[in-house]
Amino acid sequence: MIHQYIQTNQDRFLAELFELLRIPSVSADSRHKADVREAADYIVQKLKDAGADKVELCETKGHPIVYGEKMVDPKLPTVLVYGHYDVQPPDPLELWNTPPFEPTVRDGKIYARGACDDKGQMYMHIKAFEILMKHNLLSCNIKFMIEGEEEVGSDNLGTFVKENKGKLKADVILISDTSIISLDQPSITAGLRGLSYMEVEVTGPNRDLHSGVYGGAVANPANVLSKMIASLHDENGRVTIPHFYDNVAELSQADRDALNKAPFDLEEYKKELGIDAIAGETGYTTLERTGTRPTLDVNGIWGGYTGEGAKTVLPSKASAKISMRLVPNQRPDEITELFTKHFISIAPKTVKVKVTAHHGGEPAVTPTDSKAFKAAAEAFEEVWGKTPIPTRDGGSIPIVALFKKELGLDTVLMGFGLDTDALHSPNEHYGIKNFLIGIETIVAFYKHYSH
Ligand code: BES
Ligand code: MN
Ligand code: MN
Repeated sequence: MIHQYIQTNQDRFLAELFELLRIPSVSADSRHKADVREAADYIVQKLKDAGADKVELCETKGHPIVYGEKMVDPKLPTVLVYGHYDVQPPDPLELWNTPPFEPTVRDGKIYARGACDDKGQMYMHIKAFEILMKHNLLSCNIKFMIEGEEEVGSDNLGTFVKENKGKLKADVILISDTSIISLDQPSITAGLRGLSYMEVEVTGPNRDLHSGVYGGAVANPANVLSKMIASLHDENGRVTIPHFYDNVAELSQADRDALNKAPFDLEEYKKELGIDAIAGETGYTTLERTGTRPTLDVNGIWGGYTGEGAKTVLPSKASAKISMRLVPNQRPDEITELFTKHFISIAPKTVKVKVTAHHGGEPAVTPTDSKAFKAAAEAFEEVWGKTPIPTRDGGSIPIVALFKKELGLDTVLMGFGLDTDALHSPNEHYGIKNFLIGIETIVAFYKHYSH
């Protein structure tokens, strides 16, 4: 019945998603402020159409939050669905095969910015809700909280959650904004990394200099910065910041074994990325490195002349943006402080350094023995005919820890994306199969959760 309904309505479901994908709701770019709002308005309308009886566009200091609910009976359990309608900037535009905000289907995949992260995944919930309403199957309460600032650190969501604890009262949080192993092997994410994001600036001479006249006699900030950054890892791929690993929770051998049981093809991984060899912390597998170990990476680095041709110049400044992915029980504020202290301490006298912190987020682990997790597992079993494997994803959804702290609620991370969906990259895409089976699995989740 459900499967049939999805098949009959799939063209409309996709057309609606495409309309949302056409709205360039880039939260980081102030030129898109009106587009971000338009995406929020669109979701308000779609929640109403699907049958929510209270839908609000909640203003914040930044982009609005969409809230919607369907209360069946206050005595029944309540699921709070979280998602985000904002997307990452599409740059570099020239690397897209088709324009980022003109959704295009190729090989059964929808190509568009936000196709997977998170418009496509979030929209599955609105369609699952429509189905539950149409078939009179909703046997619990549903609340929706869809934000527009996830990709820029959810600055105003914390305040919203703190100020609306009554409204957000629920029994569990349900999020689709993570990955499964593959369409042949479902998984449920049981852990996410945290984040500490820094920017550093190294300044040498008071102006750019002729690299022949001064080169060799004055410290070059770009050279100095490169050396400082290189020193942040040792030969085993470990981060050298003192006390960086102090609070890292080591997994038991049993947990490591369980994690490594997930199918993973290293050759396929390298091939897909176009690399000849992998790298990382000695003594850990790739799945452990991305799921359970902290990291430090340069996300951007600049300084001096980067235009066409050659300009002989010794830059006055060089900068970098550096992210550290964190694992339980590292704390972003602590790591930010350790980084700042260390980075300043390793700077030679020849330069001045400035270190600033951007947004961060706490790591999270979610229980795998809760009623809601079990319902999610049963939903996969029913729809996919396979038992999902619990995994740990390397990305961050800082709100998960915040929900636990502020609302005391655990989250079920029922994602349907693939790591290869090119999130945040050119040619982001999302499988139509993933979208449709995701809707069906979410409907099944409600069935198992409320019985
Ligand atoms: N949906 C992602 C996080 C994600 C991706 C989790 C894949 C698991 C698998 C989310 O939109 C995201 O990009 N988060 C940011 C953090 C945020 C503070 C900007 C990230 O992980 O970089
Ligand atoms: Mn996301
Ligand atoms: Mn993202």
